[in-house]
Amino acid sequence: MIVNPLRDPRDRRLPRVPEPCALVVFGITGDLARKKLLPAVYDLANRGLLPTNFALLGFARRDWGDTEFAELARDAIRQHARTPWREEVWERLAGSVHFVQGSFDDDTAFDELAAALGELEGTHGIGGNAAFYLSIPPGMFPVVLKQMQRTGMAENTPGRWRRVVVEKPFGTDLASSRELNALVDSVFSADDVFRIDHYLGKETVQNLMALRFANSLFEPVWNGHHVDSVQITMAEDVGIGGRAGFYEKTGAARDVLQNHLLQLLALTAMEEPVEFSAEEIRTEKLKVLRAVSLPEDLSTFAVRGQYEQGWLAGERVRAYRQEEGVDPASTTETFAAVRLGVETRRWAGVPFYLRAGKRLPRRVTEIALVFKRAPHLPFADTDTEELGNNQLVVRVQPDEGVTLKFGSKVPGSVMEVRDVSMDFLYGEQFTETSPEAYERLLLDVLLGDATLFPRNAEVEASWAVIDPLEEFWAGSEPAPYRAGEWGPRAADAMLAAEGRRWRRP
Ligand code: BG6
Repeated sequence: MIVNPLRDPRDRRLPRVPEPCALVVFGITGDLARKKLLPAVYDLANRGLLPTNFALLGFARRDWGDTEFAELARDAIRQHARTPWREEVWERLAGSVHFVQGSFDDDTAFDELAAALGELEGTHGIGGNAAFYLSIPPGMFPVVLKQMQRTGMAENTPGRWRRVVVEKPFGTDLASSRELNALVDSVFSADDVFRIDHYLGKETVQNLMALRFANSLFEPVWNGHHVDSVQITMAEDVGIGGRAGFYEKTGAARDVLQNHLLQLLALTAMEEPVEFSAEEIRTEKLKVLRAVSLPEDLSTFAVRGQYEQGWLAGERVRAYRQEEGVDPASTTETFAAVRLGVETRRWAGVPFYLRAGKRLPRRVTEIALVFKRAPHLPFADTDTEELGNNQLVVRVQPDEGVTLKFGSKVPGSVMEVRDVSMDFLYGEQFTETSPEAYERLLLDVLLGDATLFPRNAEVEASWAVIDPLEEFWAGSEPAPYRAGEWGPRAADAMLAAEGRRWRRP
């Protein structure tokens, strides 16, 4: 047996429980905290994955005390938690929640927060360890970070750790993301900054690495010799909900292409990491992001669209421009598609088609490798009329799993070959349900495991892809598409220009 001295000798099958610590959430009354963070904290507690010495601190402007905060947490958990309600788990958690009231420019409030953390060392034995979750608009980051610096809360003194969790969007372009990164890095050391891209917390996204690097079947064909093109789709049937204020300034490319889709591309295209560790995986992803190229002809190969009114699941839905809080003449895109290249030996010449949109026919995220046709078919043309390209589809959500599409003989006395599918469904093969992305990521923050968190350079390399697109689109009208359709016609034309078609997932 070959012994690799780099390998972590610990048995990684045993669930790890973080050291005693506190989780401090800024913006605890917001949507993200209620729908994702608080339920994730409970789900972890329910699975026995929180340390016995744990405290949850909420910080917000509301004139509340611990009791009101506990009520909000209870309601949020009952509504959104993944795991079943257990009164005793809640009781234990409720005993560890605390609320600090104040605004971000209020020095006294931050002094109180620092003092509260100090007191928790005595009352809850958190050992001085704390993670700060910035679930707040990025415009607020500077003032909050400066307060943490002023009060010494960000300091990693010997024997204790302090970490910060930053939610996307990480800036709005390369320049602003650099500024933001510099600011965060001036307060926390790089290893203590955790940038959340919740797609990396999804089980199926992690399975991409297992699929590729734990099997011998797929990797030999995972390259431009065999793959004709790659399609990455993130389709949502929902509109923008109550997020007009954010979305109007953002649009689909900044909202999800810059992060979720480019991260999926990076995991699909990267080389095998030397070992399954944060450092090595991030290094491989970064190499891909740096190798991404944009097409010369952006007018054909970069498409933005905006939904008009239409029908979805039997219901009439309004146009983006009619949504509450949206400018009736808005040119913000709700759909974005682009053809990218990855300039490496493995992928040169293989187009990566990315698309993301709201108010599309259904919610589905998938990565499809479309293989080249067999170089020679020893059948009559008519025998294979209905045979498409072989495809390997990783379904990120819903119906998480993997599908292999290939040709098979149709039963009967004549030779006719048609596409069939072979399916692996998580729901059928495993009895355990997958943890929510935030559950996994929050636990990793508390454990200090940065494997599933993009680092600075990745974020910046991604903006370097998006900036020229935004520049090209600036001031132009997005192409209209009817809600309930698969985006504007120009998106189909983009693939048709190269003799290809989007999958209809
Ligand atoms: C967020 C985007 O990052 O991801 C939203 O800001 C989008 O616009 C959401 O709706 C989708 O997440 P999920 O996990 O439901 O696919």
